[in-house]
Amino acid sequence: MTPFGLVELTVYPYECDAFGHLNQAALLTLLERARWDALARGPGMDLFDRNGVWPAVRKATIEYRAPAFARDVLRVETTVVGRGTTSLTLRHVVRRVSDDAAVAEAEMVFVCIDRLGRATPIPDEIARFLGPRPSAGGGGGGGGGHQPIRVSVGDVELAVDVRGDGVPVLFVHGFPFDRTVWRHQLATLSRVRRIAPDLRGVGGSGTPSAADGYSLARYADDLVAVLDALGVREAVLCGLSMGGYVIFELLRRHPGRVKAMILADTKPQADSVEAKRGREELTRVAEQEGQDAVIEQLLPRLLAPATQATQPEVVGQVREMARRWSVPGLVGALRTLRDRPDSTETLRGVRVPTLVLVGSDDEIAPPDTARAMAQLIPGAQCHVVPAAGHMAPLEQPLATGRLLADFLRVLPS
Ligand code: MLT
Repeated sequence: MTPFGLVELTVYPYECDAFGHLNQAALLTLLERARWDALARGPGMDLFDRNGVWPAVRKATIEYRAPAFARDVLRVETTVVGRGTTSLTLRHVVRRVSDDAAVAEAEMVFVCIDRLGRATPIPDEIARFLGPRPSAGGGGGGGGGHQPIRVSVGDVELAVDVRGDGVPVLFVHGFPFDRTVWRHQLATLSRVRRIAPDLRGVGGSGTPSAADGYSLARYADDLVAVLDALGVREAVLCGLSMGGYVIFELLRRHPGRVKAMILADTKPQADSVEAKRGREELTRVAEQEGQDAVIEQLLPRLLAPATQATQPEVVGQVREMARRWSVPGLVGALRTLRDRPDSTETLRGVRVPTLVLVGSDDEIAPPDTARAMAQLIPGAQCHVVPAAGHMAPLEQPLATGRLLADFLRVLPS
């Protein structure tokens, strides 16, 4: 993620509707102004003209989160979150300066076109301004350009992304993903300390070769070692799918380290006999054919049909994340998944604030299972994220980000 610009703009009365709210189309215009202002303060408003190209908007996704009113001063923070040969994705986060309220978040995809309207490669001068290409998954465990720290957990070192200040939130990825599955949340969740390790055997972390190097207990103890290394006593634990199973184990082994929980696309049940057989078959595929064959088998059930059809960069990132697993890491995780216990009773004993979220099209941990899981946990909230499959935080980052931010904002400090 490269900063594009931070701009403050005042809302004028003529931009507001009959109710006094900043009009939705006027907000889009404000975003446009923020981009021009950022260019004016940086490389100059004529950056595109002098290179003979133009950024045409191809897709705009915007989430209006709170009304803004005439005379409000809005802070628009713009970052480059994606870049292809001819395309560019900018994220805008809009906050009111007086109370820091989140007013809107938007993601805009631009295609660089020439004077005849044809897509054309981004010229060097513009590419330099946009900064290094944020790779979809952070290439080799790089986490979208952000350098991880290394934490020793005894037999191996883990790569851990640590960003921001505030309440610690520990993000635990699923199988076969890595810490970059949380890249949107790591980049945009404000006022919390975001901590995201690669599990052992994955991405930038070390790979134990011993067969007993992998278990739920080891994964959970690794997370506690990361918290210890960062001087964190209690954290909000946020897990995606297998990340949730690891959190259940952490609850059993280290209940005092859990301040609150966010459980995304996960479930408490152990594997059925048939599912165990599937794990064994996939272990054979991992050992004989490698990471690519594993992810090709899993992909159709991981992402919602709409994601597969319209978000090729997400499909690409899922493949990249799987490639960053070592084969021993895959095999160790598959055994762990196969042998994990049922966590229903563990969840009944939870006494911390809990948010459950699930993609509307999640086939692996479907919405009904998520609702039933939330009912086990006293006071848990449950939300369904529309148009997402098993990877809601990656498929629908805006909707997921809003749920996370709302949940975190009201946590007792
Ligand atoms: C995951 O996303 O971590 C896996 O789908 C978990 C599982 O297969 O049970």
